[in-house]
Amino acid sequence: MKFRFTECKNLKQKPEAVNSFGKLFTDYMYVCEYSGGKWNEGEIKPFNALEMLPCASVLHYGQAAFEGLKAYRDKCGTVRLFRARDNFKRMTTSAERLCIPPVDEGQAYNALVELVNIEREWTPTESGTSLYIRPLVFAADESLGVHAAKNYKFIIILSPSGAYYANGFAPVALKVEREYVRAGKGGTGAYKVIGNYAASIKAGELAKEAGYDQVLWLDGNERKYVEEVGSMNIFFVIDGKLVTPELDGCILPGITRDSVIKIARHKGISVEERPITIDEVLSGAKSGKLTEIFGTGTAAVISPVDRLGDNSQDIIIGGKGKVGEISKLLYDTLTDIQTGRKEDIFGWVTTVEAQ
Ligand code: COI
Repeated sequence: MKFRFTECKNLKQKPEAVNSFGKLFTDYMYVCEYSGGKWNEGEIKPFNALEMLPCASVLHYGQAAFEGLKAYRDKCGTVRLFRARDNFKRMTTSAERLCIPPVDEGQAYNALVELVNIEREWTPTESGTSLYIRPLVFAADESLGVHAAKNYKFIIILSPSGAYYANGFAPVALKVEREYVRAGKGGTGAYKVIGNYAASIKAGELAKEAGYDQVLWLDGNERKYVEEVGSMNIFFVIDGKLVTPELDGCILPGITRDSVIKIARHKGISVEERPITIDEVLSGAKSGKLTEIFGTGTAAVISPVDRLGDNSQDIIIGGKGKVGEISKLLYDTLTDIQTGRKEDIFGWVTTVEAQ
């Protein structure tokens, strides 16, 4: 074993089936600390409370970035990580945006492999489940004042999880958000930083009260262009082509987004990354040019959208409760690669061998 290891005296009972998202956690976590200008090796230790004083800087100023990725156990018992190195690469860009000293990506990956190997029995195998992995890096100074902290912690925790949305691979409803905005040019919209999520909660709660699952964000400048959903990037099928907002510095460069684009192109589906106005979406949905909408994200995987609400009017996309053909094809192909049912021709999966 490479990393210092502290044994857990009381292992938890593993659940027979997993049907929640982010509520169960495994026995161990990885913790690494930054002080005196460098990160230490870190250690794997029992999953437990982190010691933190009330003046810990992250609590006051939100200097923190995170990632979300998944491990799957295939029918031979091999644990498969999906694009883990890409997540750590993105964590570096998020950290740099917030003046957090980046964690060495190789070290983070090796720690994850070792942690997942210890916890491999926690990786669920039922369809639609996975071991959800949450790396988080945050400021840990014990003083007040807005400036780059001098001390940080990096942790990785593991959560055996089912689908992010309660109904699994079933359509969700989105409300077009006309009042609040998620991001603006020069802001942090393209980075996975905790403040983006805090800023989205109010609009999300209002959308839920109004009978929707999430909001569809528009650009912060003109409120004209579609951006993303917050927990997902967004795709439209217009005239048989896949159309998704381009990476304009305000939306998250989703790893599932990128995977879906590559799979679609490989299957001969034409993909356009370009600005899309909400008017084009609404008029396309009304005229029938727009036939499918779906969101993509690690947690949400591919989530079909069957209802779009705007100014108290609903538009049904492709039939209530229906999953479009292209959405289903992309979902099946992506999850087949992730879980090992199909060959990974893109080289996205790395395996965690039992030691
Ligand atoms: C993920 O898709 O992994 C995320 O981090 C999004 C979050 C809303 C669960």
